[in-house]
Amino acid sequence: MSHYRIAVFASGEGSNFQTLVDAGKAGLLGGAKVELLVCDKPEAPVVKRAREACVPVHLFTPKSYSSREAYELEIVEQLEALNIELVVLAGYMRLLTSVMVDKYAGRLINIHPSLLPSFPGTNAILQALNYGVKLTGATVHFVDGGMDTGAIIAQQSIVIEPNATVESLAKDIHAIEQELYPRVVSWFAQGCVVINDRQVTILPFK
Ligand code: GRF
Repeated sequence: MSHYRIAVFASGEGSNFQTLVDAGKAGLLGGAKVELLVCDKPEAPVVKRAREACVPVHLFTPKSYSSREAYELEIVEQLEALNIELVVLAGYMRLLTSVMVDKYAGRLINIHPSLLPSFPGTNAILQALNYGVKLTGATVHFVDGGMDTGAIIAQQSIVIEPNATVESLAKDIHAIEQELYPRVVSWFAQGCVVINDRQVTILPFK
């Protein structure tokens, strides 16, 4: 049986990338497999992880293009050549233009380290700590043209302990992300995700 083909976009460490690759290889991703890493930082640890896992990498340096649209058009060509069905952002530190957002509407998701709509944008973990909230977590959402504004697919919360630091909280949030993201990707692979405006419904597995 042919599998469900996903591409992961990442700019940094790549722990979510690794989890998705490992889950795909172990058959724990609802039939999905990571077919491509897209990365804008040649020196990022995620690139090494991809090479070690034999996942093809599309590396680009944004500065060598005339516009964001120009490098995204090239990415879209790659995604189409590989018949990618779902684009999964995992620590990709760039805003997408309408080139990607329109082309992959409904098939483009992101994970964010807070309970959106609280604390969008960068430094979400620090923002939550500074604000003094007692609960935070991770959100998987569709990507639209805004900053972390797309319809919410799934969320998982954790309690912020009184002595939490940015480092300890980041570690705890990574742990829940690594449960949440593979689960959501497997819903897509099984065709269980239905979006109607901002309402996202998860149908029972077939
Ligand atoms: C994650 O915390 C994710 O929520 C955010 O970027 C971080 C990426 O971590 N969007 P990693 O590179 O997957 O380790």
